[in-house]
Amino acid sequence: MKRAVLEALKKNKDHFISGEELSKKIGVTRTAVWKHIKQLKEEGYEIESVSRKGYRLTKEPDTLDANALEIEIGSKHIGSNIHHFESIDSTNTMAKKMASKGAKEGTVIIAEEQTGGRGRLGRSWVSPKGTGIWMSIILRPSIDPTEAAKITQITAAAVATGLRNIIGEDVGIKWPNDIIIHKKKTCGILTEMSAELNSVNYIIVGIGINVNVDIDEFPQDVRSVATSIKAYMGENVSRREIVKDILFAFEELYLDFIDNRNIEKSIDICKKYSVTLGKQVKIRTKGREIIAEAIDLTEDGQLLIKNELGEVETVLSGEVSVRGLTDYV
Ligand code: BTN
Repeated sequence: MKRAVLEALKKNKDHFISGEELSKKIGVTRTAVWKHIKQLKEEGYEIESVSRKGYRLTKEPDTLDANALEIEIGSKHIGSNIHHFESIDSTNTMAKKMASKGAKEGTVIIAEEQTGGRGRLGRSWVSPKGTGIWMSIILRPSIDPTEAAKITQITAAAVATGLRNIIGEDVGIKWPNDIIIHKKKTCGILTEMSAELNSVNYIIVGIGINVNVDIDEFPQDVRSVATSIKAYMGENVSRREIVKDILFAFEELYLDFIDNRNIEKSIDICKKYSVTLGKQVKIRTKGREIIAEAIDLTEDGQLLIKNELGEVETVLSGEVSVRGLTDYV
């Protein structure tokens, strides 16, 4: 019911809506309406109330609460079911738990804070309260487990597209799973999977974005290579807008993959915004380190490189440092 009140207020932001109208629309008493309004105010919504006119929503807090996000996203496939946590160890871990209990595809787990955020290669991911986007999406694609890396490429393309809407051109993709703003990492993607030999049970795609994080919250060794959107823009940015734009872009690219069995659209975006292609790179993959030139992405999203011997090879995944970006000088 609180959600219905919020939905009505959000739809009528440009004028007052009376308590009576709200109670008729939603089918509850005026006292119940008043109680929900009070609760919303306590959650940080600014609602003007004027006698004989009613209520008007004037400002929304930048929390990622499930009701507000679901209302804005609508009844889409990805994000139609959102679970919001104030504090959690890791949204990926929670997503795995939910997926193993049958949560449906497109379920999104999002948290204000992670106390045990996980990065790739067993690293930790700093996830302070209320300033970043720490979220995971549950997917159940009918694909071969060997295709899972494609999901990372789709996600990178979606995040870059969403962020570019808000931040502009300085957003790039460092293959395979980092989003870079002005030469520094701002977002990481952690794709995890549960699979049998030939089929995927579920895939969890975890997205961590440093939105309004203050740089001094990063550990010392990370500061030279990581940044936040706030540090780049010089002001706070709405996390909710970013989540909305990313999930919107993700839905389009993911469904295109599921329907057409290729990731052409995502690969085109990954190529267009790549900060890796055409550069000297250092790649750590399967226990070896390769110095090479990054030439292209294959249609499957693998990196095509020319190694020091002039041989061309493809790399499915790995840790990449790009010469000229801060971590490979
Ligand atoms: C990386 O190492 O670059 C990947 C970082 C991924 C972090 C995100 S935050 C949301 C989700 N939950 C986690 O514990 N990790 C991912």
